[in-house]
This record gives sequence, C-alpha cells and structure tokens, in this order.
Amino acid sequence: MSDESTSMNADERITVRNLLHGEGSPFELAEDARSGLASTPKTLPPKYLYDASGSDLFERITEQPEYYQTLTELEILRRIAPLIVDRVRPTALVEFGSGSASKTRVLLDEMRRAGRLEGYGMLDVSESASRAAAAALIQAYPRLEVECVIADFEQPQPLPFPGKRRLLAFLGSTIGNFEVEGAQAFLRGPAERMHDDDAFLIGFDLVKDIAVLERAYNDAAGVTEAFNKNLLSVLNRELGADFNPGGFDHLAFYNEAEARIEMHLVANRPQHVTVIDLDMIVEFAAGESLRTELSHKYTRRSVEALLEAGGLALDLWETDPNGKFALGLARRR
Ligand code: AVJ
Repeated sequence: MSDESTSMNADERITVRNLLHGEGSPFELAEDARSGLASTPKTLPPKYLYDASGSDLFERITEQPEYYQTLTELEILRRIAPLIVDRVRPTALVEFGSGSASKTRVLLDEMRRAGRLEGYGMLDVSESASRAAAAALIQAYPRLEVECVIADFEQPQPLPFPGKRRLLAFLGSTIGNFEVEGAQAFLRGPAERMHDDDAFLIGFDLVKDIAVLERAYNDAAGVTEAFNKNLLSVLNRELGADFNPGGFDHLAFYNEAEARIEMHLVANRPQHVTVIDLDMIVEFAAGESLRTELSHKYTRRSVEALLEAGGLALDLWETDPNGKFALGLARRR
C-alpha cells in the first residue's frame, strides 16, 4: 500500500518530453552509412559505437588503468562542486547526455547540501535510459523534480526549467567527439537559451604527452579494440553487412596538427563488403581505413577560443594537479 502511493507520487515528479516523435530519429544509420562508406576517407559517426554491447564496453574502458579521464574528472568535480554551487547558486541541474550517474550525483548532492536542489533536467536520445535514471534519482532525492527531454542534443533544443537558475553540464569530454565547427555550433544552442545567471560546466581532456594519450586508446586488455570493432557487428546486424572483424585492425593515434585522437578500423587485406540493406558493395584496399571516432584534446587557450566562437566566455578553469583534465565553467557572453 505505502509502496504503491510512493511510486504514484514518484511518477508525478518525472516529466518526459519526447521531441523525437515525428522528427525522425537522430540515429539514421542507413543514411549515415550510405554516405560515410562511399566517401573518401571512409567515416562513420561515433554515436553508432554505443549499442548495448558498445555501451557496456565503454563502461569497461573507463575502468582500464590507461584510461585516466573518467576518474580524473570525478576527482576534480568532487573538489570543486562546493565552489561551483556557491558561485552559481543553481536550483536546477541540466545535463547533456546521460553521463555517469556518479558524476551527476556529486553535483546534486552539493546542491542539496546548499538547500537549493529543486530540479534535474536531462537531454538524451534514449527514452528508456532516461526513464531508468530518473526513477533512480527521485528515489535518492525525495523532493527532486526530473524533466527528461528526449531529443538529439546535437540540434538546438529548449532547456528544461527556464524559470530556475540553472547549472548546465556536459561532462566526460564528449564535446571532443565533434568536429571543431560542430562543437562551436553545438555550444551556440545552449548559449542562446541560457540566462545571464545560468552557467555551463564542461569537461575537457587536455593536450598532454602523446604516449599517454595513445595508451588511453590502446589499452593492454584490448577493451578499446573490442569497442571499436563492435561497430562492425552493428553494421552487420543492422544493415545486413558481411564485415569480417578479422579483416580489420584497431588503430588509434594522436593527430598532432588537429589536436585529436583518431580511431580507425584498418583493412589488413583487400576485401569487398556487401551491405544488403543499402544495396551496396564497399571496396577496401589493403591498409585503407574507416574512421570511427574523433576525440579532440584541449588547452586553456583552445577552450577559450572554442567558447568564444560558441557565444560563451570562460568564468572558471579547474584542472587536476597533473593537468590531465579540466572542467571549465562558462557564462553567456
Ligand atoms: C566518451 C567520447 C569521451 O573520446 O575518450 C573512449 C569515447 N572512445 N575510448 C573518448 C572513447 C574510445 C570517449 N568519450
């Protein structure tokens, strides 16, 4: 009986607005694969790496000793959460991408401690993942209101809780997946919708020793390799392709001129792949690659330039003691 009423009250604290209906999914694998596999060089957007097994593999990447990013960001966030909350005095947190719940909770806990926690908004493409996260959060935060906006956050979207003072967050250096122009364009969406009192907390992986960067994407246990090759299983399953995973090698290297890690799948012999659903045969020469992900690395100066192009300005810059990762707090310009 009491369980039932709790869950009824709980449901009233969750709002889900699905903006994908009628708009077409942001996951247009057939269209993206048709153009990406026909282009030179061949590329695919990184979002297709994250099917159910890809998401599990990414979680395992974050546990590899070579992949310093997740723990380093969490360590900075734990240290500066009180500072951020005192400075911004937000009553709502609005997060892009589901992110890891542990990072979200560091901020929510600090807002609660300050007695100011009212709302949590999340923008994500997955309705099921958002509902699951929302259900767990309202249990943990008994007065929290959660608003889920199911949308492709690469496109400009309305921001939840326009009547509250908001802390926006985009953690994990996921911003680094965009091309430079794409990152600028992405930032302009929230920049135009933020109020002067709102602030935007963004995670940035920093330029560092090349060997350290390359090790993070070539872990000894081979989890990143499996994560990369999983894309071929996605193409085989979703598009009726016949990629032979043994015909491709994992390649991840730092492109110094572009300040980014590039992840590729390289054909280790000539081959042709049939993609039934696209009515397409894709030829690979030996050594030819399919680029699967970009992961840009930043300096304080490159972040300042990026924010400026996106209509924002840096208000606070915090790194770990070794300068591996940074959290930047940005305001509307
Ligand atoms: C989740 C996009 C930040 O670029 O480091 C990890 C994804 N790819 N290992 C990153 C990823 C390969 C990750 N981001």
